[in-house]
Amino acid sequence: MEGVNEMSAEQAVRTADPEMKRLLHLASNVASSRATILISGESGTGKEILARYIHAKSPRASRRLVAVNCAAIPADLLESELFGFEKGAFTGAVQMKPGKFELANQSTFLLDEISEMPLILQAKLLRVIQEGEVERLGAKAPVKVNVRLIATTNRDLPAMVKAGQFREDLYYRLNVIPLAIPALRNRPRDIEELARFFTEVSGLVNGKSEKRLSAEAVQKLKSWKWPGNVRELENVIERSILMSAQPEISADDIEIAGFKPQPTQGGDLVPGMTIEEAERRLIMKTLEYTSQNRTKAAQLLGISIRTLRNKLHEYGVAPAGATVEERSNG
Ligand SMILES: Nc1ncnc2c1ncn2[C@@H]1O[C@H](COP(=O)(O)OP(=O)(O)OP(=O)(O)O)[C@@H](O)[C@H]1O
Ligand SMILES: [Mg+2]
Repeated sequence: MEGVNEMSAEQAVRTADPEMKRLLHLASNVASSRATILISGESGTGKEILARYIHAKSPRASRRLVAVNCAAIPADLLESELFGFEKGAFTGAVQMKPGKFELANQSTFLLDEISEMPLILQAKLLRVIQEGEVERLGAKAPVKVNVRLIATTNRDLPAMVKAGQFREDLYYRLNVIPLAIPALRNRPRDIEELARFFTEVSGLVNGKSEKRLSAEAVQKLKSWKWPGNVRELENVIERSILMSAQPEISADDIEIAGFKPQPTQGGDLVPGMTIEEAERRLIMKTLEYTSQNRTKAAQLLGISIRTLRNKLHEYGVAPAGATVEERSNG
């Protein structure tokens, strides 16, 4: 049943990040309207799940959301996919086929990766939006449609407009309600929240519901920059659940492609991070600055070397090959 799927999609949007919470709040406020929504964000940040959340909260929820990924369909097929065709409209059109736009009537139409739509089709899409009717290829008359449009992009549309690659008028038509999803690396609380959530879900699915993340594992996850965002995190967690021998997943069980041990852990301060996380970053940055000299770092930070060592232990940072300097001071 469609409805059931959409509800579970809705339940699955998890977040502990203030900006994401604001977006979700805004999304549910506009869900009831027909306003066009443009969701932007890096690959894997959760654009589709947010679109489905909006649909699930809308009065259209009982109908199936119709989605077309503009990047996945060859440009020459995209037009007939979107708008459909009449029998005999072109060689091979042996019978009438309604377009996805028409199939989304009374429902929500998700246009994924809208930036990949050829300019010619952009013009046609604009007309459909403005007039509220679609014309199948080879048709004599248009069909009225009542569609709620949600578009997504992981590219910078304003920049594409400037470069003449995306129609400005269409951009403004789509961008009625912009929802910009932050990258996962800028949602420090979500790294932990989603990691624990995926551990739970993946544990259940794989019959390993006893699995838990160790503090060191969480720390390792938090130190990575997640270029593939939530999708990458989901995959990493699932793999570590399958690979770990013990109920508690250690830092070593977490395998991240391209991970360098202790990369620049002294990242920037980001609104929404906890004081604890800000403290960790300041400590790591200071250590970078002192070339890992813990005595100097402790002095700069105004804490004892013992406190510094305890904190590093909490973060899962290996004890420095106990230097003479440290032993005499600690
Ligand atoms: N807030 C969240 N809570 C739970 N799961 C999430 C969340 N955000 C993303 N996911 C999961 O992460 C994966 C990627 O999400 P989604 O497909 O929505 O991203 P996307 O931005 O559309 O990616 P792409 O740009 O590659 O199309 C999906 O499996 C989705 O269920
Ligand atoms: Mg997507």
